[in-house]
Amino acid sequence: MIELRENEQRTLMTISSLGGKADVDQIVRTSGLAHASVMRASLRLSKEKLVKVIEQKRAIATLNDEGKAYARKGLPERQLMKSLIKLGGKARIGRVVANAKLENQLVPIALGWLRQKGWARMEGQDRTLKALKEPKKGKDEIVLKILAENGATITEELKKEEQEAIAALRKRKLVEVEKKTLRILELQAKGRKLIKKGLKLAKEVSQLTPKLIITGKWRKTKLRKFDVTAPGPPMNPGKIHPLQQIIERAREIFLAMGFTEIRGPLIETAFWNFDALFQPQDHPAREMMDTFYLSNPKAGKLPEKKVVNAVAKTHENGWITGSKGWGYNWKTQEARRLLLRTHTTAETIKYLSKNKNPPIKVFSVDRVYRNEQLTYKHTAEFYQIEGIVVDKAVTLCDLMGTLKAFYSRFGLRKVQFWPCYFPYTEPSAQAMVYVPRLQHWMELCGMGMFRPEVLSPMGIEYPVLAWGGGLERIAMVELGLNDIRQLYGNSLSWIRRTPLCQ
Ligand code: PHE
Repeated sequence: MIELRENEQRTLMTISSLGGKADVDQIVRTSGLAHASVMRASLRLSKEKLVKVIEQKRAIATLNDEGKAYARKGLPERQLMKSLIKLGGKARIGRVVANAKLENQLVPIALGWLRQKGWARMEGQDRTLKALKEPKKGKDEIVLKILAENGATITEELKKEEQEAIAALRKRKLVEVEKKTLRILELQAKGRKLIKKGLKLAKEVSQLTPKLIITGKWRKTKLRKFDVTAPGPPMNPGKIHPLQQIIERAREIFLAMGFTEIRGPLIETAFWNFDALFQPQDHPAREMMDTFYLSNPKAGKLPEKKVVNAVAKTHENGWITGSKGWGYNWKTQEARRLLLRTHTTAETIKYLSKNKNPPIKVFSVDRVYRNEQLTYKHTAEFYQIEGIVVDKAVTLCDLMGTLKAFYSRFGLRKVQFWPCYFPYTEPSAQAMVYVPRLQHWMELCGMGMFRPEVLSPMGIEYPVLAWGGGLERIAMVELGLNDIRQLYGNSLSWIRRTPLCQ
């Protein structure tokens, strides 16, 4: 014997009273139940095969405010026509309009329709309007009335000419049509039988109260089961922005792997952003193309002389590093220039200049800036994930393993390493990840071991593994986006649609 809850019973009886078939909105209106209750009841009823749920895509038409006004007063051409007939079927346009009390801006529209419908014609130089025939009620006017009486109307249930009239009214911007999925509940044989036999109401309790517990009555009570997968009304609670959630996740992964976070200023000297990383002062990446330089103030402070001199010498002739350097005249002025950091590697090397003793495992997840054209895959500011490991005998293999472990925690499992070039690392590589949804390999980050030309001036005597890459790319894969700008557009509907938990 099937026991139904009250809402399920009421829903079933309502469907029956509506002729055995009704859509959810109708049931809501007739039964007085909440929409969510009917939806929930329909799940159970269809599971028990008492009703069948039929989903149909339907175009629903409604009048807008202007349409509603015309449904009351008549279309502008009808208003003019009435006035014309009252004036004997022939009168100066000015009089017709004045008599109809039609707004001036509507007159050309009304005249256009009068001509098109063949109801009247303008004659002579004195602009006389002459009625041509009995203005019969058009399909458009009939539909206007139907929509005014019914409110939201399923267009598919109208006659063909009426549907055409709706299309015409839509063109006149009096009607709006919206596609909706209708859920129709249809009583099944099993449901009919059950109603005939008489329904039995389940005696269930939906809330466990202290009283039930204290009195021990809970032992005999039937507690209502909740279906946590049933759809409820949509809720839009406050939540952390999807991009921020991924930033937090990157931080948590680093922390779980034993790394410590470092942060630095958004504005850096060229010294830390470029020179300390053995990027020559005439390196194309330094040009205005990529780097935002500050115009005021223009220059910042350099660290202690010893470090600056060592970097200068290394650039000029290799200093004690065994390298030949770049062979040019290094300029303090260029190194002092202030800029918006183009990568977080600036913070990494600055940190290493003060912390040289292994083991070191630090990371940053922070904002960087590059003068890029705004496109679906580039923004001028973005987040970089950066990590370094310093230890006595670490190798490139350790770096690859660390990266694999890091990205696999983001669900990116198919990672490959391709050779590549950075001025500050040797060997250098880039990590590529396979994205099944896009069916191609995507660049994740740059990586490598810092060169002696970078390490010696800072007085670092141990191998340094480093990697850095964009966070937004991961976010795009994770959130299924095709356009990076979506992350910064703050479209409320997208933010709401993005689930709280990925
Ligand atoms: N700084 C590089 C970039 O911004 C990435 C990188 C970091 C490469 C560390 C090697 C080592 O693309």
